[in-house]
Amino acid sequence: MKVIEQIKKPISFEMELFEKKFRLSMYSKVPLLNRITHYIVNRKGKQMRPMFVFFCAKMVSNGQLSERSYRGASVIELIHTATLVHDDVVDDSNQRRSFFSINALWKNKIAVLVGDFLLSKGLLLCIDNNDFDLLKIISTAVKDMSQGELLQIEKARNLDINEDVYYNIIRKKTASLIAACCSLGVASVKPGSKDIEIFREFGELIGMAFQIKDDLFDYGTSKIGKPTGIDIKEQKMTLPLIYVLNKCSYKEREWIINSVKRFNKDPKRVKELIKFVKDRGGLDYAVSKMKSFQQDALKLIQDYPNTKYKSSLEMMVDYVINRKK
Ligand code: IPE
Ligand code: IPE
Ligand code: MG
Ligand code: MG
Repeated sequence: MKVIEQIKKPISFEMELFEKKFRLSMYSKVPLLNRITHYIVNRKGKQMRPMFVFFCAKMVSNGQLSERSYRGASVIELIHTATLVHDDVVDDSNQRRSFFSINALWKNKIAVLVGDFLLSKGLLLCIDNNDFDLLKIISTAVKDMSQGELLQIEKARNLDINEDVYYNIIRKKTASLIAACCSLGVASVKPGSKDIEIFREFGELIGMAFQIKDDLFDYGTSKIGKPTGIDIKEQKMTLPLIYVLNKCSYKEREWIINSVKRFNKDPKRVKELIKFVKDRGGLDYAVSKMKSFQQDALKLIQDYPNTKYKSSLEMMVDYVINRKK
C-alpha cells in the first residue's frame, strides 16, 4: 500500500465522508461547470490538506470531529483546487495529477472562471453556516496566496531574488494554506483556544518544507504527475539555484543570470544550468533547509500528549519531505 494510504487508514471513515461532502460542495446547475468539476473530482490529489485538518482537530479533541471540521476541510480543498486551476494558467502548465490541466483542455478563459467559482463556493460554505472564525482563517490564506504568487512573478521579472525573499514567497503562496489547515482543524473543535496559534505556526513550518520539496521535484526527472524542469523556463529561481548563485564567482553568476534571462527556453542550456546547480550542492542545501523547517515544526507539538493522532500527524510530517510526488 502507498504510504499516504497507510497514513489515511485511521481516518478512512472520515475521509470517505469528506469526499462525499466535497463532491456536493462543487455542484452547479450550469452543465459546463458540472462537467469540469466532475473531471476535477475524478482526478483527486493526495488530499493532504483535509488530512491535516482532521489530524490536528483530533489531536486537541481526543479524536472528536465536528460538522465544522468537515466543512473546514471541504473549504480548504476547494480553495486548494481553485488555486491549482489558476496556477496552471499562470505557469502555462498543461499537466496536473497525471492528466491534462483544465487550461490545457478548456483554455485559459474557462480555467480562470472555474477557479473563481470554486473559490466562491468555498467562501459561501463558511458563510452559509456562520463559520465566521473559519472564514477569517481561510480568507487570510487566500489573500496571502495571491500576494505570494504576485511577488513571485515580480521577482521572476527582475531576477533579484534572494533566500529571504524566496522564503517570503513560499510562506505566502504555499505555507499559508497549510497553516490554515492546521489552525482551522483546531478551531473547528476548540474555538478560541490558544492551541489555534500554535498549530498555525506548526502548519506554516510544514508548509515551508512542503514547497521546498516541491521545488526540488522540479530539478528531478521522476514522474510526479506534473511537468518538471519548468521553473527555470518560467524564470522562477528557487532555493537550489538561489544558494548556488550566492556561492559562485562573478563570472559564473553572470552565466547563470544570463541563462535564466535569455536562454530559459533553450532546453540544452537549461539542462546545463540544472547540472551546475546539482554539482555545486544546491539540492543538498535545499534538502538541509527543508529538514530544518520540519524539525522546527515538530518542536512545536512535542509537549502534546503522545496519542495515536499525534503519531499520525508526525507521519504526515515525515511524508511531506519523503513523498515521491
Ligand atoms: C501542489 O500541492 C501545489 C503546491 C502547493 C506545491 P499538492 O502536491 O498537495 O497537490 P495535490 O492536491 O496532491 O495534487
Ligand atoms: C503551487 O505553486 C501552487 C500555489 C501555491 C498557488 P507551484 O507552481 O510552485 O506548484 P506546482 O508545482 O505547479 O504544483
Ligand atoms: Mg506556480
Ligand atoms: Mg505551477
